[in-house]
Amino acid sequence: MIYLDNAATSYPKPEEVCQAMNYFMRHIGASPGRSGHRLAIEAGRLVYEAREMLAELFGVENPLRIIFTLNATEALNLIINGVLSAGDHVITSSMEHNAVMRPLQAIKEKGIELTIVNCSPAGVLFPQEVARAIKPNTRLIILNHASNVTGTIQPISKISEIARDHKILFAVDAAQTAGCCPINVEAFGVDFLAFSGHKGLYGPPGTGGLYIREGCEAKLKPLVYGGTGSYSEFTHQPDFLPDKYESGTPNTAGLAGLKASVRFVLDRGISQIYKHENNLAEALRAGLRNIKGVTVYSSGQLTPQPQLSVVSFNIAGFTPSEVAVQLEEKYQIMCRPGLHCAPLAHQTIGTFPQGTVRLSPGYFNTLDEIKTVAKAIEEIANQATCPMKDNGTVLLSSLEER
Ligand code: ALA
Repeated sequence: MIYLDNAATSYPKPEEVCQAMNYFMRHIGASPGRSGHRLAIEAGRLVYEAREMLAELFGVENPLRIIFTLNATEALNLIINGVLSAGDHVITSSMEHNAVMRPLQAIKEKGIELTIVNCSPAGVLFPQEVARAIKPNTRLIILNHASNVTGTIQPISKISEIARDHKILFAVDAAQTAGCCPINVEAFGVDFLAFSGHKGLYGPPGTGGLYIREGCEAKLKPLVYGGTGSYSEFTHQPDFLPDKYESGTPNTAGLAGLKASVRFVLDRGISQIYKHENNLAEALRAGLRNIKGVTVYSSGQLTPQPQLSVVSFNIAGFTPSEVAVQLEEKYQIMCRPGLHCAPLAHQTIGTFPQGTVRLSPGYFNTLDEIKTVAKAIEEIANQATCPMKDNGTVLLSSLEER
């Protein structure tokens, strides 16, 4: 089996992650920040150490500015619902995942104005387009660091300068990039950074979080209210971090795994991880571009735009699902076909509504696996009989006949 769906969630997880979760379940088990007994203190220490490691990874001085959530989606919902109120304007891009797009569409009902800035057909967001969209009531700019469809890494630092100049809050969705490429919240100039624990950080599902810049908590209402183990004599929510945003018993087993996984990433080094994954993705793109009938959707080919290890392609004459079924059934290759929860991104690159086949190599993949995958795709492409346009796209009538 060759697993190439690391953009959805990474697999396998490092052995240390499995061991840390097992150890927590067998030997700690208690609720952090509650009760005060030995096991609860140990659980609390573990959660704090997970914060410390993430702070080190993202260049955050105070680990308490890292908030844990269920996943990046919950962190993004927290930002969008916590910052915006009636009369505000918010800017996003056409390359966003539904984790950003759906909460933004939903909040429009509360009297919030939304502008979706178009990216280029290669998926690139131009900072001047963001600047042009700013209005006097713009409260928030929220964008992904990299697309989950094309892997395009957006010019975050340039956009943060624009946001800062206009005193607009700037939030970045790092679901696809945390652990995959360098992130420094100071260099990026972000106010909020939402991250996933189970993708490039190699942690367990059900883990993620949010970095909140100092002072920004005053502008961010909680999404969930409840018990925090602190100030139990009060019926109102504490206003300090992280308790303001962490109500209820956390996923401590998951955080034990996340702590071990971030240690794994820090030990290997982000630049080494990026280099390895980028080599695999480049080898895959190069292999696929040589196959007749295959179209690769890549931003790096047209502009010197950096990309993640995410490779989207189509084979003329096949739907993405048909390719995925063959890849799994004949070759035991796992991928993700379709729209990847990012319909506007596919509209932007011209692959809506059928989408693409997405292959996303991770740290545990090898060059030999990539060669096997390229060969498998060539064999599938060679079965195609339907007529082609010059640019490699399929005539719609042929698709309808299939
Ligand atoms: N957002 C995840 C993906 O791109 C689930 O597959």
